[in-house]
Amino acid sequence: MKEISINSSFTIYENTKELPEDIQELMNQAVEIRKKAYAPYSKFRVGAALLLDNGKVVLGSNQENAAYPSGLCAERTAIFYAGSIYPESKILKMAITAASDTNQTQAPIPPCGSCRQSIAEYEIKQETPIEIYFMGEIGEVYKSASLKNLLPLMFDKKFL
Ligand code: THU
Repeated sequence: MKEISINSSFTIYENTKELPEDIQELMNQAVEIRKKAYAPYSKFRVGAALLLDNGKVVLGSNQENAAYPSGLCAERTAIFYAGSIYPESKILKMAITAASDTNQTQAPIPPCGSCRQSIAEYEIKQETPIEIYFMGEIGEVYKSASLKNLLPLMFDKKFL
């Protein structure tokens, strides 16, 4: 028997003002698209902004449904759109922000497990890490240098 340990590390910015300028701009776009979320059930709005290597920014917000599981998270709305419209482009950076209509979200909100799995697919396909920045409505912003850092021991095509 043996034990292994897998480490993940994050950069923590105290607030958006500490972010590099291009990420501030990307996060601002995530905030704007977050306001357009369709979240009548959870009242929890999430916005995602992706910067591609062709210079385009692709945005997404969560889209809920009366049949709850039929809704989709902001991250997957954005990444599936990017994959559909710009299949040859790499995704370089992703900014995510979440805010509740009922209370102020100060904790950085990381992508859910299903979104991590979906983002992983593109990171593996493009063979380049995707930088992921995530925050709540205000407060700290976490940076993960890659999706793999958020999802060690991931399931991917090499197991098929
Ligand atoms: N949500 C996202 O958009 N992204 C996540 O990573 C976590 C959750 C959405 C789904 C649902 O519309 C609402 O937040 C509450 O779970």
